[in-house]
Amino acid sequence: MAASLNGLMILVIVFLCLSLQSASSPAPAPAPSPYNLLEFTCDKTNDYPVCMKILKSNPQTASASNPLDLARAALNLAMADTSIAREQITVLSRSQKTQPGLRKPIERCIQWYDSAVREFNVSTRELVEDPMSANYDVGVAGIQAYYCENGFVSAQLQVPAEIASLNEKLWSFSRIASAVTDTLQQDYS
Ligand SMILES: *[C@@H]1O[C@H](CO)[C@@H](O)[C@H](O)[C@H]1NC(C)=O
Repeated sequence: MAASLNGLMILVIVFLCLSLQSASSPAPAPAPSPYNLLEFTCDKTNDYPVCMKILKSNPQTASASNPLDLARAALNLAMADTSIAREQITVLSRSQKTQPGLRKPIERCIQWYDSAVREFNVSTRELVEDPMSANYDVGVAGIQAYYCENGFVSAQLQVPAEIASLNEKLWSFSRIASAVTDTLQQDYS
């Protein structure tokens, strides 16, 4: 009697363990389509239309099929775009049309943009091992736009329109990169 009761108890325990195990590991959700991945990402940026426009404009970001591919592609795009912006600021700093008083803060922006490219670059190397640091570094990249702008504001100078729009773009890339690196830390698929 005692033996068969023990046997029954063991069966019940085994059954409970099996059902608990299956409850804690639900079937994975179906893989998201690239479009869903972009929407999911851009929803986090508070800048949905601009984010979608940027990510759909590039074949690598537009076709990324998982969060890591999207993060890599978005950071490459951010690096390339910020490098081009840096060159545009360099041209502006040397232009004869630039007011002499604006030259110094414009030259400082070149350095802030160098830092932004560097932060995006560092972030790409952290995506797999340390997405939390990758997320932090792309935030730091965005702050460089603020430093650039502040060079004019603190000297009571008007921010040149061309620089204001480059700063806006750098902010957008930072927000997008922040969203993609945030997704890496989630159980997305
Ligand atoms: C990123 O960093 C690596 C290592 O420092 C460097 O070789 C590479 O040129 C950098 N890429 C860009 C786009 O700056």
